Amino acid sequence: MAFTDRAFSLQLLLLISSFLIQTAISATPLFSICSNSHNFTANSPYEKNLIKLLGELYFKTPPTGFGLGSSGQGYDRAYGLSLCRGDVSTKDCGACVVDASDEIIKRCPNDRGAIIWYDNCLLKYADSDFLGKIDGQNRFYMWNLQNVTIDPQEFNQRTRGLLSELSEHASKTGKMYAKGEVEVTGYEKIYGMAQCSRDLSGAECKKCLDDAVNELPRCCGGKQGGRVVGGSCNIRYEIYPFLNL
Ligand SMILES: *[C@@H]1O[C@H](CO)[C@@H](O)[C@H](O)[C@H]1NC(C)=O
Ligand SMILES: *[C@@H]1O[C@H](CO)[C@@H](O)[C@H](O)[C@H]1NC(C)=O
Repeated sequence: MAFTDRAFSLQLLLLISSFLIQTAISATPLFSICSNSHNFTANSPYEKNLIKLLGELYFKTPPTGFGLGSSGQGYDRAYGLSLCRGDVSTKDCGACVVDASDEIIKRCPNDRGAIIWYDNCLLKYADSDFLGKIDGQNRFYMWNLQNVTIDPQEFNQRTRGLLSELSEHASKTGKMYAKGEVEVTGYEKIYGMAQCSRDLSGAECKKCLDDAVNELPRCCGGKQGGRVVGGSCNIRYEIYPFLNL
C-alpha cells in the first residue's frame, strides 16, 4: 500500500514537472496539417497579409476565446480563425495563439493554407474563404490505449449519450461549448466536452458534432478516453476530469 502510494506520488510529481517544463518552454501541438496546395514566396503580398492576419488573431481571440478575420484583397487575401477551448483562461488562450502562429509557420513554411491544434487552441488559415462552412477535410483522432474494464457496449453507449447531449447543448449556446459528466458503473464518471468554432451557425454546429459523435466507434470504441478533432468542431471524453475548473 505504502509502495503504491509512493509510486503514485512519484508519477504525479513527474507529471507536474513535465507540465511545468512544457509550459515554460511552450506547449506541444497535438497535430497539424499543411494544405500543400500552393506556396507563397518570401516578401510576397500573401506573406504580408498572413502575418497581419496572425497578429490580428492574437489580439482578437483571447477576450472571447474566438477570433476570425481576413487580410488583403483578391488572390492575396488570407482568411483565418483561432479558437480556444471553452474553459481556457484569457492568458493561456493568448499564449496558445502565439505558440500556434509561430509553430504553424515553422511546420508549413510558405504554405498558403494550414491548421494546427493544441490542447488549448486551434489556429487555421487559408487563401480562400472557409469561414462559416464546416471543415470536412481536416480531422484527426486521439484515444487512450487502455481498454475499459467494464462491458464496452455499456461504456460506449454512456459516452455516446453524454456527448450527444453536450453536442445539442453546445449548438444552442453562444459560446458553442458544453461540458458535462455522466456516472457509469465501474468508473467514477465519464467526463466530456463538445465545442464548435463560432463561425458556424447553430444548425451547422449540431451537424458537425453529430458527425464527430458518429465517428467515435472508428477510433475510440471501448477505450478509456477519446477525441474526434476537426477544423470546425471537436469532442472529447475521459474517465478523469480534464478541463480547468
Ligand atoms: C511548397 O514548398 C515545399 C517546400 O517548402 C515543397 O516541398 C512543396 O512541394 C511545394 N508545394 C508546391 C505546390 O509547390
Ligand atoms: C484492447 O482490446 C483489443 C481488442 O479486444 C486488444 O487487441 C488490445 O490489445 C487491448 N489493448 C490493451 C492495452 O489491453
